Amino acid sequence: MRDILPPESERWRRFDAVFAAVAESAGYGQLMTPVLEDLGVFARLGEGGEGVSKEMYQFTDKGGRDVALRPEVTASVCRAFAQHRPTTPWKVWYSGPNFRYEKPQRGRYRQFDQVGIEVVGVDDPMLDVEVIALADEFFRALGLRRITLIVNSLGEPEDRTRYIEALRAHFESFPEGLSATSRETLLRNPLRVLDSKRPEDQAAIAAAPQIADFHSPAAAEHFEAVQAGLRALGVDFVVEPKLVRGLDYYRRTIFEFQSDALDSAQNALGGGGRYDGLVEALGGPPASGVGFALGLDRTLIACDEEGVFQVLPRRLDAFVVDVTGGLQAAAITAALRAAGLTADRGFDNRSMKAQMKLANRSEAAYAVIIGEDEVAAGTVVVKPMDGGEQTNVPRSELVARIQRPTGTDRHD
Ligand code: HAM
Repeated sequence: MRDILPPESERWRRFDAVFAAVAESAGYGQLMTPVLEDLGVFARLGEGGEGVSKEMYQFTDKGGRDVALRPEVTASVCRAFAQHRPTTPWKVWYSGPNFRYEKPQRGRYRQFDQVGIEVVGVDDPMLDVEVIALADEFFRALGLRRITLIVNSLGEPEDRTRYIEALRAHFESFPEGLSATSRETLLRNPLRVLDSKRPEDQAAIAAAPQIADFHSPAAAEHFEAVQAGLRALGVDFVVEPKLVRGLDYYRRTIFEFQSDALDSAQNALGGGGRYDGLVEALGGPPASGVGFALGLDRTLIACDEEGVFQVLPRRLDAFVVDVTGGLQAAAITAALRAAGLTADRGFDNRSMKAQMKLANRSEAAYAVIIGEDEVAAGTVVVKPMDGGEQTNVPRSELVARIQRPTGTDRHD
């Protein structure tokens, strides 16, 4: 878990703002759900206690309830849908922290932020297309270019079940066998064996049956429609038959956005898919759903690698240097701020030299200097910090002088 200090934190806020603008341009409204939920809300994330459900921060609260810090938001969205029964399609976006007890490393934290969107209640492959295209648009809005979108379909639940059985049979009888870890994974969830990066598993994985051969006609048609929609919008993608994703609620479409600028271990910036059936499992009506979530922490690392969406230098309009005790600076900064300008000041009644140092460090466009002479004359000294001429300005004209500088001494 990390502290995010200024000015980096300002970048996080801008990230949310850009995401909100993209989501709201497509009619999504912000949903805010609690960070702490009943443990049962997350029961479907990993069948057999696998993956995300194994990493949950769960505990019994003072009232004896089993609760967990959310490891992701999709389950909470479905819980909220089941509870409030909004009109459909319910299009929501969200942003906030999630918690997983993982082994921390660069790009993998125990508290991490996600932004995401979900559409619940209408079953149409054009929604898969909309959701994927919005994620793609968001990455572009950040300035990222080295992004690969991979897509796959897990088929209908029955297709998936038949495929899992075929995979189990394949891996159990594969002559060269599997690593010890994958043999254990195989007992719980054969699909996850496809995720293994271990060299000794690669021969068996390469020879494994393909999910597409198990797609029912309806599932195949759905996947075709999604691909045709993406092509029509000019969204580049690669079909990856071995993509399975780490959550167990997925049905039909799944996808992932990878950064080619990051190491392959941590290169998934975000992903998502369909989770038809999840709302019903959480006590709601039968309802399909599709959405994605992007990791903010990891996406910002990708931005750093590509040199885009950088921290902006902090710019103040004015830094007030008051050598009369500090009360004048209080009045002047208040007047500047009331006029919509940004202003800071020296504190602690420091010397002129010390305060000018602070003014320099603040990277303000102007130092506004006031001593006893200026108080007596009703003026202030305005000094452009980029080296222009300093001038004496009547107090009443200060705001206008900083809002509309004369000459070319304005910082931009
Ligand atoms: P997920 O793949 O578990 O999917 O997480 C989405 C993204 O969150 C990942 O691609 C990654 O960028 C980020 N992430 C996950 N775990 C960590 C971590 N420990 N540290 C840093 N970043 C992390 C979901 O969470 C699904 N709810 C996505 C979804 C929405 N599916 C349908 N709708």
